Amino acid sequence: RDPSQPSWFGTAISALNRTPACSSPLPTLRPDTHHTVLFREAILTYNSRYANRWDFRGLHSFFTEYLDDDEARSFFKVTLPAMVKLALRLPEIVTQSPPLLKKQMRHSITLSQLQVASLLSNAFFCTFPRRNAYQRNSEYSSFPSINFNDLFKGGKHGVDRRRAEKLKTLLHYFKRVTTRMPCGTLTFRRQSFPKMPVWTTCKDRLTRLHVSAEGTIEEDGTGMLQVDFANKVIGGGVLGFGLVQEEIRFLICPEMILSRLFTETLEADECLVIIGAEQYSCYEGYSDTYKWAGDYQDQTTRDTWGRRCTEVVAIDALKYRTYTEQCTPGMVKRELDKAFCGFYRPDVLPSNLSAIATGNWGCGAFGGDPRIKGLIQMMASAVAKRDLAYFTFGDAQLAEDLYKMHEFAEANSLTVGDLWNVIQSYNRTSAKTSRRPAVELFSYVYQMYTDFQDSTDEEGAGQDW
Ligand code: AR6
Repeated sequence: RDPSQPSWFGTAISALNRTPACSSPLPTLRPDTHHTVLFREAILTYNSRYANRWDFRGLHSFFTEYLDDDEARSFFKVTLPAMVKLALRLPEIVTQSPPLLKKQMRHSITLSQLQVASLLSNAFFCTFPRRNAYQRNSEYSSFPSINFNDLFKGGKHGVDRRRAEKLKTLLHYFKRVTTRMPCGTLTFRRQSFPKMPVWTTCKDRLTRLHVSAEGTIEEDGTGMLQVDFANKVIGGGVLGFGLVQEEIRFLICPEMILSRLFTETLEADECLVIIGAEQYSCYEGYSDTYKWAGDYQDQTTRDTWGRRCTEVVAIDALKYRTYTEQCTPGMVKRELDKAFCGFYRPDVLPSNLSAIATGNWGCGAFGGDPRIKGLIQMMASAVAKRDLAYFTFGDAQLAEDLYKMHEFAEANSLTVGDLWNVIQSYNRTSAKTSRRPAVELFSYVYQMYTDFQDSTDEEGAGQDW
């Protein structure tokens, strides 16, 4: 070839389109009548009925885009094969099927952490049959989901940030348990009582209160009964999009997720107690800013059954449509009964009862008023004879207001029944409107008692509510 002659003509080759740079993103690979796909993703082979519906693009993009190469390589080389083994060992590890904790059952299940890990590995690989259909009347429609498929979905933009951080947190758990299996146990107990207090005539006085704008239930409530701000479907959106108090707790202590395998939706007077769940991860942020923040070495001592001395109680508040319905007798009774059911331990001597660590139960996603709910929790813990540690999650004004209300109740020797009656009196003043009343409950209580005292000072009149 004559080197003085040009070797190519026309458009520069670098300007021509090439795949994959010029391609539009592929649709999900799905078999149909015109297209036979001879291979399947493993999980979809044994869930063939969902092969066309489940979308694992989130999981793919999590490994290719979200994790760095070393993390992804180590997962596929070490953790994943160990999880497969752990899942397949299920028949040898769990030798009898765990019973279902159905509505109104009073029953406990104790398992080893190894058994929980094997069952959760199965949940990751979506092997639980008959747990994927959630139409009304399907066999398990009143149970939570347990297979992890919803965490793997992504759509055309791949994994969303929430699911990615959830997966990081959960994969860390699997890494931990497959590296060194913890050797303790856990108990799940579904609890309810045949009789509830008669709130209107309750003579109990409030117990002691610690209230702080700083700290969290899980960090500062060590050794106390820690409240899970639950959904009646235990774990709420932990295997989907939800990412507030309950979901975060279940992510950093993933053994709690197993409750979803056997706990039917909670009814109004029921709760679920989880004893012994270990914390494996730290976290930062909350909701959209939630982030896995590394390993956590749980140093909590174990009881003689081998359980970490961490007791969590799942109680689900009501979600309100209007502000004022919170104070109607039916609603107040429902929340008092629910909290009482969570707090009450008739078999334990009062001196052996730990305090309760709680906070703005029902006041985030569920829209309740933290002053009303705070007072309700004080009343329920009074009847359950337990002290209360209340964490306001940064709200200093709320901490002060709750403290003042508590002081006021003590100074005026108010009983739980007195408080019930004053809430009902407040309800009658605001019953006609659905909007937030001009006077807040606490101001109303102070006003009522000041008026009452003035009138008794003057005339010796009786209580008029
Ligand atoms: N410690 C103390 N307080 C906290 C903590 C913590 N770790 N985390 C949050 N708070 P929310 P809900 C405070 O919305 O209204 C879930 O999806 C913070 O002020 O989780 O009862 C469940 O599955 C927050 O706003 O509880 C249910 O479906 C407030 O507690 C639903 O949410 C309420 O937290 C329950 O919603």
